[in-house]
Amino acid sequence: MAVLGSGYVGLTVAAGLASFGHRVTCTDVDVDRVDHLVAGDLRIVEAGLTELIEDVRSLGRLQFLTDNIEAARSAEFVFLCLPTPGRSDGTLDTSSTEAVVTQIGRHLAPGARIVIKSTVPVGTARRVAELLQRRDVAIVSNPEFLSEGTAVDNFLHPDRVVIGSDSVRAAMDVATLYGVGGVGECIVTDSQSAELIKFASNAYLATRVTFINSVAELCEATGANVRDVARGIGSDHRIGTAFLSPGPGWGGSCFPKDSAALVALADDVGVDATVVRSVIAANEWHSVRVADKIADALDGDLSGKTIAIWGLAFKAGTDDVRHSPALKIVERLRERGALFRAFDPGVSRPITGITQCTTLEETCRGADAILVTTEWEVFARSDLDALGSLMTRRIMVDARGAIDPGVALLAGFDYTGIGVGRDASDLEFTAMCLEQETRDPVVHATYPRHRDAADQSP
Ligand code: UDX
Repeated sequence: MAVLGSGYVGLTVAAGLASFGHRVTCTDVDVDRVDHLVAGDLRIVEAGLTELIEDVRSLGRLQFLTDNIEAARSAEFVFLCLPTPGRSDGTLDTSSTEAVVTQIGRHLAPGARIVIKSTVPVGTARRVAELLQRRDVAIVSNPEFLSEGTAVDNFLHPDRVVIGSDSVRAAMDVATLYGVGGVGECIVTDSQSAELIKFASNAYLATRVTFINSVAELCEATGANVRDVARGIGSDHRIGTAFLSPGPGWGGSCFPKDSAALVALADDVGVDATVVRSVIAANEWHSVRVADKIADALDGDLSGKTIAIWGLAFKAGTDDVRHSPALKIVERLRERGALFRAFDPGVSRPITGITQCTTLEETCRGADAILVTTEWEVFARSDLDALGSLMTRRIMVDARGAIDPGVALLAGFDYTGIGVGRDASDLEFTAMCLEQETRDPVVHATYPRHRDAADQSP
């Protein structure tokens, strides 16, 4: 089979299919990219992918080429994993997909199946069929649900595989490709439904995140604690706990693109998209809120102040900075005269206008405040007391709830979190619990749920 496109989706799909025992040819038009792939250099950070590719290549099941026609000519299944970037009006640009279909169309083997993995507008599978004009070639929509950082695991152990086609036979053929991989539920549907499931899933997840961010804001205004509130909401089995972590707003390559595309689609077909439109607007507001928190912590004056930015990626576990809330916040703070020293354990590529450091120590040297924008675990394990001694003032705004407030307070930081009032007494209580933990193992056992600990302490 052929996988056309060697981005993180194409590589994961190619390696995953090869690990199921299929022989896969993966292509990219970028000669330099293919040269690096052949040399074993993926040039992306994706847990377990390099190893999986090495394994399947050593078994002779995966090769890389630049020629789409050569790869597609003898393939029974041709997976399209091509970029579909969002335009400024929210619609998606499918020109790469159309160009490749036109390029390979007459070279496809009789009875081949084209499988669209990329996120494409509803109706694309049907449009591709019209473009192709090959009655013997079925088009199948099989959207990817790969999260960056866990893409390999998501592919090998999916919650569900969605397969949509006007040809049930072709849909079933694609389903069998996953059969050896221990798949969760397999949902076979028409192609429009499969295409829409992708947008609706991401817009719904984005809505949950924005919802909890709004609840976090309410918590700050009322003295409640968003961690406890999220736990209370999420332990209702109808709701569930996933995607209820408050933060600086969602980013990445999918949520912004897919939610905007859902609104554009709704507008196009005359359907009201108020909910998702509001979610997009509220998401912007949550990054403004974080920028305001740092300005407040620095008494409103950011001019010439150096801020240590902890995290540039849009989430932990990836090197991807596309639509990263961290960069959005940096831009807002820059407009107010702030300077930056940033460290992200996953991001080494230079970013214009940001001094990138290789350690947390470097970010803190001479800094006026720390702003935690990505939830890397290594940040939580840092020696805050030592880092604070390098700074001009011990100020921290933690937009991810990545640092234990008690630890920050004990290290002398003026700590502002998300979803917990800045002066909330429970922060002080957490610090007290931490102090006690060294003396009293019983309190230690109940920490960190400080309110419970309060009820039980002598
Ligand atoms: C997402 C979808 O999860 C995946 O199924 C899809 O196919 C591609 O888009 P990804 O973009 O890798 O994956 O990121 P994801 O882990 O879903 O997070 C999206 C954004 O929401 C990130 O900015 C993340 O930090 C934020 N987020 C997520 C929160 O702020 N809180 C949460 O509780 C969860």
